[in-house]
Amino acid sequence: MNSAAIIGIVVAAAVVLAAVVFLTAARRTDVRGAGALSRETRRRDKDSDVDLPVAPSGRAVERAAAESRSTSVAKADDLLPAPWVAPDADAVGVSRRIFFNRAYISLMGLGIGGFAAASFVGFLYPPSKGGGFGGKVGAGKLDDILLNIRLNQGFFYLPEARTWITHYPADSVPKAKKIYNPLLLPGMEAGIVALYQKCPHLGCRVPQCASSQWFECPCHGSQYNRVGEKKAGPAPRGMDRFIVSVSGAGDVTIDTLGGAAIPGPAIGTNTTGQEAEGPHCITGGH
Ligand code: FES
Repeated sequence: MNSAAIIGIVVAAAVVLAAVVFLTAARRTDVRGAGALSRETRRRDKDSDVDLPVAPSGRAVERAAAESRSTSVAKADDLLPAPWVAPDADAVGVSRRIFFNRAYISLMGLGIGGFAAASFVGFLYPPSKGGGFGGKVGAGKLDDILLNIRLNQGFFYLPEARTWITHYPADSVPKAKKIYNPLLLPGMEAGIVALYQKCPHLGCRVPQCASSQWFECPCHGSQYNRVGEKKAGPAPRGMDRFIVSVSGAGDVTIDTLGGAAIPGPAIGTNTTGQEAEGPHCITGGH
C-alpha cells in the first residue's frame, strides 16, 4: 500500500470519527434542550424529598403580563373624577314634597300648640273684670263725658272699652223704652249710649263722620245715625252696644260683657229722627 492510500484511509477515518462525534452531540442537545437537566441531576432530584416549583410556561407569563397591564389601566381610571349625572327629577320632587309636608305639619303643630297654650293661659288668668275690654270699664264722670262729646263734635271714643259714647236725647227715651233692651235704658236715661266700634256687617271698625254726624263704615258703606240706628248699607241691624251704669256720684261704668255686645236695633228703628247734618264721609251706602 502506497503512502497516498494510507493518507486517504486516515482522512476517511478522521471524517467518519468527526461525523460520529457531531451526530452524538447533536442528539444530546435535541433530547435535553436548552437548560435541560442532565440525567444525573434528574436522578438526584427524583431521589430527593424536596418539591421544586414548576416553572411557568411562556404563554402563562405573557397572560399574566397582559392582566397586569389591564389592572394598571383600571386603577388609573379610578383616579379620574366621577362623571356628572343629572339628578333624578322624581327623586328631587319627592324630597321637596317631603320637605313641604314636614314644614306644613310643623307649622300646624306650632299653631295648634300656640292656640292650646293661649287657651290654657286664658283659662288660668281670665280677663279682668275691672279694667279692659271684656270687663267693666270706668269711663269717668258723666258731666265730663258729656263735655267731651260736645268738644269732639258729637262723638267721644273710649279705647279701653272699644266704644263710642254719644249723646242720647231725653225726648227720645219714651220711644227707646218700647224698642230697646231694658238693660240699656239706664244709660239712655242718663243721656248717653255706648256703641261697640265693630260694624255688625262684617266687623270693620266704624268711624264717626263729623260732617254728617253719623257713623259711616268704610268697608261696605253701612251708615248709622249718631245713636247707632241703621240708616243705609248692607248691615243687618243697628250698631251693637254695651250696658251703661251711672253711680250716685256720677261715675260712669261701661260693662263690655266679655265682648259679647247686645245686638243693635232692627233695621228701620229711628228713635231720634236724626237725618244727616252735612256731607257724607262714605258714598254709595244708600
Ligand atoms: S263691615 Fe261695615 S259695612 Fe261691611
